[in-house]
Amino acid sequence: MNELVFDAHDENATDRFGAALAAVLPRGTTVALCGTLGAGKTRLVQAIAAACGIPREQVVSPTFVLCQQYLGQPEINHLDAYRVRDEDEFRALGVEELFTSDAITIIEWADRVVHTLPNEYVRIEIDVTGPTSRRITITPIGARYNHVISALESKLSGSLTCDL
Ligand SMILES: Nc1ncnc2c1ncn2[C@@H]1O[C@H](COP(=O)(O)OP(=O)(O)O)[C@@H](O)[C@H]1O
Ligand SMILES: [Mg+2]
Repeated sequence: MNELVFDAHDENATDRFGAALAAVLPRGTTVALCGTLGAGKTRLVQAIAAACGIPREQVVSPTFVLCQQYLGQPEINHLDAYRVRDEDEFRALGVEELFTSDAITIIEWADRVVHTLPNEYVRIEIDVTGPTSRRITITPIGARYNHVISALESKLSGSLTCDL
């Protein structure tokens, strides 16, 4: 299966993963984030956003506003499906317009709105493996994002070399 499993031992590693991801994701990508409460979905969005020039403090769970836009390079739309009643309510936010935009659109609790996601997207599952460690599994859905895995692998091994 075309997927990548990254074990982040601490938040710095999550930052490193987020930066590598930001570097390889094409504009217009939709990212579906899955994982329990406190898994680190918002924290990973902060890591991706930081790499796009968006200050970390700007990025908080959009639980009440449901959608936030950050002006970075590229722009990021940050959505949270935790409190939406159903997929119709989620669709009514105008998400289809976001999916076809040039921005990176990242959705927390995306498994709750899986039928409303575009045909092709990048799925990321975060599992808690310890107090500061997380297992991040990234899977491209649809052929358009197949290349993301190998690009990410080489980015991550490159940055590992720099860390040594
Ligand atoms: N390696 C790690 N990666 C991401 N978050 C981590 C990590 N280690 C500890 N954490 C902590 O886990 C919590 C994740 O919270 P948050 O990102 O809001 O979760 P979610 O959005 O999935 O509900 C934060 O308090 C963060 O500091
Ligand atoms: Mg969150």
